Amino acid sequence: MTVGAVLVAAGSGVRLGQSVPKAFVLLDGVPLVVRAAQGLLACDEVSSLVVVVPPDRVAQARELLAGLAGDVTVVPGGAARQASVAAGLRALPDDADVVLVHDAARPFAPAGLVRRVVAAVRAGHPAVVPALPVTDTVKRVGRGDGTGEPVLETVPRGPLRAVQTPQGFARDVLVAAHVAAAAAAHDEATAASDDAGLVEATGVPVWVVPGDERAAKITTAADLALAAARMVLQ
Ligand code: CTP
Ligand code: MG
Repeated sequence: MTVGAVLVAAGSGVRLGQSVPKAFVLLDGVPLVVRAAQGLLACDEVSSLVVVVPPDRVAQARELLAGLAGDVTVVPGGAARQASVAAGLRALPDDADVVLVHDAARPFAPAGLVRRVVAAVRAGHPAVVPALPVTDTVKRVGRGDGTGEPVLETVPRGPLRAVQTPQGFARDVLVAAHVAAAAAAHDEATAASDDAGLVEATGVPVWVVPGDERAAKITTAADLALAAARMVLQ
């Protein structure tokens, strides 16, 4: 089995609120997308990498990633994450029969996590996600009145998992899920927020392996500050 990775870095980073897209924000002088690419390429399992960036940053990304050892391709992304993943899938080498999809917003996903996901796909699971137990109490709410929302129920926490990336797939399964999703034309409210969600919708079982706190997503300025602090402590 040959593993190709798609690294999506084409978002704008609105919630981070910096003047450059999130993947191009520097952490200790190194852009998040470069850190995430280095992390994937450091795994022997990963044979090729497609990095998906904003269309106006393709040339810059090629320069930034030129120094990395490995088979790296840079392509322009789309307006939504799903479109960016689809663009990455189209650019994967033909020989990649296992696909990892990873967020540049998770630049510190450790090699052990990547290996766990690949190993589970190789063991026969067509779709694999890393996830952590949910530690907060979770409540389902109803329609609010502007001042608050009524609780409908407290959701039992034991079986809940918060899902991370990289997610791993048999390539044909992920491609079929993206084709089906594109045909269904979900609106924002019903769109799957990850690739495994698209696969689930096609009826293919999804398997969970243990995630890792270090693979936390950088969404806000506080997340970026936390990631910087973790680097100092390491
Ligand atoms: N992503 C992408 N193409 C898009 C939107 C998102 O490749 N059109 C990528 C982001 O670059 C990121 C990952 O998907 O690595 C997860 O998305 P998110 O954390 O939401 O990042 P942004 O969309 O950049 O941030 P925001 O939603 O705050 O604008
Ligand atoms: Mg986003």
